[in-house]
Amino acid sequence: MVVSEEPRTATKVLESILECRDIHVSYNLRKGMVVKVFEGLSISVRYTEFLGIVGPSGCGKTTLLKVMAGLVKPSVGAVYYKGQPLNSPTPAIALVLQNFALFPWYTVLENVMLALSKDKELSKQDKLERCRAFLNMVGLSGFESAYPAELSDGMKRKVMLARALVTQPDVLLMDEPFSNVDPLTAISLRREIESMWLSESLPPSSVVLVSHDIEEVVELCDRVIVLTPRPAKIAATLDISLPRPRIRRSREFYEYVDEIFTLMS
Ligand SMILES: Nc1ncnc2c1ncn2[C@@H]1O[C@H](COP(=O)(O)OP(=O)(O)O)[C@@H](O)[C@H]1O
Ligand SMILES: [Mg+2]
Repeated sequence: MVVSEEPRTATKVLESILECRDIHVSYNLRKGMVVKVFEGLSISVRYTEFLGIVGPSGCGKTTLLKVMAGLVKPSVGAVYYKGQPLNSPTPAIALVLQNFALFPWYTVLENVMLALSKDKELSKQDKLERCRAFLNMVGLSGFESAYPAELSDGMKRKVMLARALVTQPDVLLMDEPFSNVDPLTAISLRREIESMWLSESLPPSSVVLVSHDIEEVVELCDRVIVLTPRPAKIAATLDISLPRPRIRRSREFYEYVDEIFTLMS
């Protein structure tokens, strides 16, 4: 007798919300030169986790986030979002890249509204309200009608964050989001992101943080993946089991920082 299998449901069977399975990515340069970034890398992002990715400069961290966002297609292997192949970008997966990408001729509010331009279900009024709510959440109330040139770098990051979150993505991918931001702004942005992620009523469910700042990664992440130089493989995976909010001055904190440094060198 054949016993039929239970239907698969995402949360029951799939441990990962986003998965890169055996991906190969290379860039073709001029004169036939090829940069092999990944040759068979597999990485999973779990439901509701805060995942950190560290690795040497040029190993392919930014490329990996672009692959996870559906912006770069691997030549071999595939990306799965909730078990389904991801072939193009989706509002469910938001990517905050390192370079500022705000439109200088639009106001702060208009820049955030752009993220909702394809949404046919919300009325203009609902969109405006939601954008204002997210700008408020990142601490930019009162700056709705400012232009990017009138903002500090930290404030521009906040606009980008609001723009990434306003579509209420399931997965938030961030590429060195706090580098080149003054230290106090970086502290408040980290708190902001952590508390949003901790709050169950708010998106996103899972966050992937690429960073070269090991302390930042230990402060925020449940799990850290250390990549090797190109073509990048997983050198090590580490669970960070410290209570939140994490205290940077504690001995346990620095044991993790030292461990990751050792794994990277
Ligand atoms: N668009 C591109 N065209 C050609 N080469 C690229 C491109 N983007 C990245 N690379 C190369 O791919 C490798 C990985 O880059 P990247 O993903 O930016 O690494 P990381 O973010 O870890 O510093 C580097 O050698 C880089 O020079
Ligand atoms: Mg990079």
